[in-house]
Amino acid sequence: MDRPRLWISRPTFADVVAPLYDCFEVEAEPEEMVFSPAELAAKLAPVDAAIIGMKEHVGTAEIARAPRLRMLANLSVGYDNLDLEALSVARIAASNTAGALDDSVADYTWALLLGAARRVGAAERWLRAGAWKATKFKQWLGADVHGRVLGILGMGRIGQAVARRAAGFDMPVLYHNRSRLPPAVEQACNARYVDKAELLRQADFLVLLVPLTAASRHAIGAAELAQMKPGAVLVNVARGGVVDDAALAEALSGGRLAAAALDVFEGEPAVNQALLACENALLSPHIASASHEARRAMTALAVDNVMAFFGHGPHAGRPPNILNPAVLSADDGSLQPPSGP
Ligand code: DGY
Repeated sequence: MDRPRLWISRPTFADVVAPLYDCFEVEAEPEEMVFSPAELAAKLAPVDAAIIGMKEHVGTAEIARAPRLRMLANLSVGYDNLDLEALSVARIAASNTAGALDDSVADYTWALLLGAARRVGAAERWLRAGAWKATKFKQWLGADVHGRVLGILGMGRIGQAVARRAAGFDMPVLYHNRSRLPPAVEQACNARYVDKAELLRQADFLVLLVPLTAASRHAIGAAELAQMKPGAVLVNVARGGVVDDAALAEALSGGRLAAAALDVFEGEPAVNQALLACENALLSPHIASASHEARRAMTALAVDNVMAFFGHGPHAGRPPNILNPAVLSADDGSLQPPSGP
């Protein structure tokens, strides 16, 4: 029987994806590309499976042109690039990389939080511009972090990893989440559940870690920014679109917030011009998971999921990160093996 065909949409790590070549006919993109919807549909049309990144948006149009497609492994924990409902209707399994990057993203969240509080980005720009003639005692004053209230909106695995790190800064932690965490988890995170309004009112540093959904779009807009503590700092490492970037730029330029640190943007890679003009915004190009270790682990997890779906590897028949597990079950509830090409 022919081996299933697999497309990898972006350059990854040759040694990590090597096992795929024993089980699939692999086409791996040698260069980082941005595919138009038509190009993406053409890439997916002939394959049984694909490992794709969050730049690749797969919905009904792409699915309609991909009759063989059975499995999509997303190289990110967020999956707002996938129309999961349409994939499920077409009985195409999808997986993400949850679990492979929690600590790395939590580390980076703290890098942004600290950097925004102490104005690291602006100070570095100033130094590089040759502006440092003398050190003034009252110049570059930022906000202390230790002892301040950390608020977390979205308390999944990454939120919990961010919360656990707060102990080192003696920060009380408040959180809001769709559902309250079990007491043992709250205790491990030293975090207290509050409603969203109280979170906005109390947090000195507000970290956003909610997935982007119809319900979370503009979860932080002008009204919410107005409810935040004057002089608070906002950190968005979740998704662009969770924050109304135009409203945020106003809150930053008007001094309502002391600072913001953003790794994600509405409409990225484009960035709101008014935000770019804010010296008190620390901005990075969606790199929270970009550590050597995390990106390798994410790739390994995508490989494991796709191998497992096709009955190979350590989790053969039991892909660990399936987002729409119902597609794995036949009508009688038994595991449905992938059909051959
Ligand atoms: C994810 O995995 O969803 C991250 O945003 C990628 O950096």
